[in-house]
Amino acid sequence: TARVAILISGGGSNMLALLRDMGQGGHPATPVLVASNDPAAAGLAKAAALGVPTAAVDHRPFKGDRAAFEAALLEPLLAARPDILCLAGFMRVLTPAFVGRFAGRMLNIHPSLLPKYPGLHTHQRALEAGDTQAGCTVHEVTPVLDDGPILGQARVPVLPDDTPDTLAARVLVQEHILYPAVLRRFAAGDRRPVLL
Ligand code: GAR
Repeated sequence: TARVAILISGGGSNMLALLRDMGQGGHPATPVLVASNDPAAAGLAKAAALGVPTAAVDHRPFKGDRAAFEAALLEPLLAARPDILCLAGFMRVLTPAFVGRFAGRMLNIHPSLLPKYPGLHTHQRALEAGDTQAGCTVHEVTPVLDDGPILGQARVPVLPDDTPDTLAARVLVQEHILYPAVLRRFAAGDRRPVLL
């Protein structure tokens, strides 16, 4: 079974979707750690409630020294010996050195139909562009932000009265379906994209 670590920064709803799916019998992966750059991230308590080990490494004392922050984050992470690292609402940019340690085995979920709208404020940008469809993407992480081979996408309609919040909520429902589906395939060694 593949050992999975998850990095979060906030509420952790995608993390929870992954943990719940891994809790099903016969799943090809097991969660070994949930770690956050924010000790107050609500997702940490949710992971702990499911019996998953947690770690918090506050990025703020490192004052922008990404290498030093990542060195501290790597301590609990490497101790957990993950085969796969899932970013799930992790809001820190990772250095190429960090990404290189997990080359080919780090996944991220992003709330847009990549290659459209890498970075922040994806839903607002989709609305401003007049897009009629929006969605989410799971991709392999490479040193380029929100780039890398696409492992799955799910689409939703953009509705006439949408605000960034209503669109985000519609996309998030799909994120919770897409990410577990991709992780199942990926953990089983199948890298064909999941298209929902
Ligand atoms: C999700 O919508 C995720 O796609 C997005 O943050 C949210 C986290 O929610 N990720 C990014 O924007 C990454 N740059 P969650 O903590 O409830 O999973």
